[in-house]
Amino acid sequence: MDLALELSSFLGNVEQRLGGMLADGDAGPDVHGDTLMEAARHLCLGAGGKRARPLLVRLFGGAVGVAPERLVDVAVAAEMIHSSSLLHDDVVDAGMYRRARPTVNARWGNIVAVMSGDLILSTALLRLAELDARLGQSALSVVAEMTRAAIAEVEARGNLDLSLERLRYIAEGKTGSLFGWCGSAAATLAGQPEAAQRFDLFGRRLGVAFQIADDIRDVLGTDPGKPRYADVLSGTPSLPILLAVERDGSLRAKLKDAWAFTTINPERTRALGDAIEASDAVPRAIERMNQEIQGALDALGPYAHQGMGTELVDWAHKLSAGITAQARSRAA
Ligand code: IPE
Ligand code: IPE
Ligand code: MG
Ligand code: MG
Repeated sequence: MDLALELSSFLGNVEQRLGGMLADGDAGPDVHGDTLMEAARHLCLGAGGKRARPLLVRLFGGAVGVAPERLVDVAVAAEMIHSSSLLHDDVVDAGMYRRARPTVNARWGNIVAVMSGDLILSTALLRLAELDARLGQSALSVVAEMTRAAIAEVEARGNLDLSLERLRYIAEGKTGSLFGWCGSAAATLAGQPEAAQRFDLFGRRLGVAFQIADDIRDVLGTDPGKPRYADVLSGTPSLPILLAVERDGSLRAKLKDAWAFTTINPERTRALGDAIEASDAVPRAIERMNQEIQGALDALGPYAHQGMGTELVDWAHKLSAGITAQARSRAA
């Protein structure tokens, strides 16, 4: 089967299984429908999600010869863990718009969003524990790491003096740990510990690059499903924001001033965001993203040339090329 067909058939199976996992459960007597699963379906099903993690699971598995049928549940669990983090993240960030739709918290409120996230997270972890105790355990430790990173980000809010090391720790925890797990889980199924280690490192560095790309898209306004300058609005010191104020004292003072208030009006958010875009922060952030990608590729070692390992390499290059092209076309 040709590669594109193979991947799309795998992702089709993932969609189907994901739909099954998010079906109404037992909401108790005299209750029709299941609000928490309905909310989860609103976020998870339908267009808009890039399904990066399920795709990575397939590619990692294909680099070590795991049959695709054995990867579907792992891919679905990765997407559900990710989705639960988004449900919670939109409460934390007061995000109102995601994947070009109102967020669950915008539509049902924070309580449903938090509990829906808890429900799909525990559903995914239970399924993994049934499948393979090792995967259940490693996924739990990733969730703990993601949670620590999420609170570290909240604690960093409004802090323009946040060190780039601390920022990287946050990005690795938020995004890299789950990317790494996609790889180590696939390699664990293959019974290949060296691959598990290399894939974890690759995924972690790729995840940091992916988070930088997300932060750059926030500045460029090139994510069609999310409002621009959300990080400026929520007081989140992303990499481009920190790089922009590093060399521009007057911008630092203006942002500090704006972040001293609990809310910023749209005009001020836009003016600050435009100033960040006009600085050299985006190209410098791209440079750092590319360093992470290079580090990721180095970590792959021999797996870069084995089976679908070449596709992992390709995916990493495309991440970089995509953002670079967006930045160029915005600057033109
Ligand atoms: C968004 O993740 C949060 C980050 C880790 C940057 P994705 O960019 O994978 O979001 P979806 O799943 O495609 O919506
Ligand atoms: C996403 O981080 C949270 C996790 C990865 C758990 P962001 O806050 O940067 O994601 P978006 O921009 O809201 O998608
Ligand atoms: Mg967010
Ligand atoms: Mg973001």
